[in-house]
Amino acid sequence: MQFLALFLLVAPVAYTLAAPDPTTFCLPEKSTALIFGLTSHIQANVSIDFTQNKFVTVTAQGKRVSDLNTNITYLVDATGACTKEPLPVLGYMTRCLPANSVFLGTVFEGFVNKVNLNAWLIPVNKDTNVTLLTYTEPGQTDSYFLLRRDDAPQGQRIIFVSNPVASIADSSVFNVPAVCPDSLAFSLFHKLSV
Ligand SMILES: *[C@@H]1O[C@H](CO)[C@@H](O)[C@H](O)[C@H]1NC(C)=O
Ligand SMILES: *[C@@H]1O[C@H](CO)[C@@H](O)[C@H](O)[C@H]1NC(C)=O
Ligand SMILES: *[C@@H]1O[C@H](CO)[C@@H](O)[C@H](O)[C@H]1NC(C)=O
Repeated sequence: MQFLALFLLVAPVAYTLAAPDPTTFCLPEKSTALIFGLTSHIQANVSIDFTQNKFVTVTAQGKRVSDLNTNITYLVDATGACTKEPLPVLGYMTRCLPANSVFLGTVFEGFVNKVNLNAWLIPVNKDTNVTLLTYTEPGQTDSYFLLRRDDAPQGQRIIFVSNPVASIADSSVFNVPAVCPDSLAFSLFHKLSV
């Protein structure tokens, strides 16, 4: 791998031929992990359910349920009050890495038992990139990401992911109140755009 890393520096074009297929790096159907925001200092439990195409971020202040079918995010505060708004670009999430992901290389971690991590760049749109470090347990097909950086016009966000499990303890975490009006910013936006 050290050789490979060196080789990458000197011959990136030649190496591309051996790059793994990004679309084979997929999260499990359901997963839960603890995330630490290295830029925002938030700590949250994130559960992702691709059977419903939803993910939820739970903090002490409340939860944010994002529906990838509609690109709407529901914000439920600690009192249970709900507002909704469009999914922010920083909410970009797909089960498998998209085909246009650029393989940046493989690194390994561990003094005794080495684990391989793959680095990827996802060009989400013309002004947004997501950079990820993925981990696939030997002999397993599912992957998850350890580190994710979003570079978007709204700013940069870096999160560190730990304690991943391929399950969701309580699916009611995705429930949102029946009454959930547009957030103030979103309703203003609606008014301005009509
Ligand atoms: C995250 O989940 C763990 C384990 O279920 C729990 O102990 C912790 O309180 C949760 N943290 C938040 C912010 O919800
Ligand atoms: C949601 O956003 C994604 C990524 O930007 C886009 O591909 C998809 O078409 C959007 N879906 C809807 C229903 O707007
Ligand atoms: C995204 O990555 C590409 C390729 O490295 C780079 O040219 C571009 O400036 C990046 N854009 C942002 C917004 O980070």
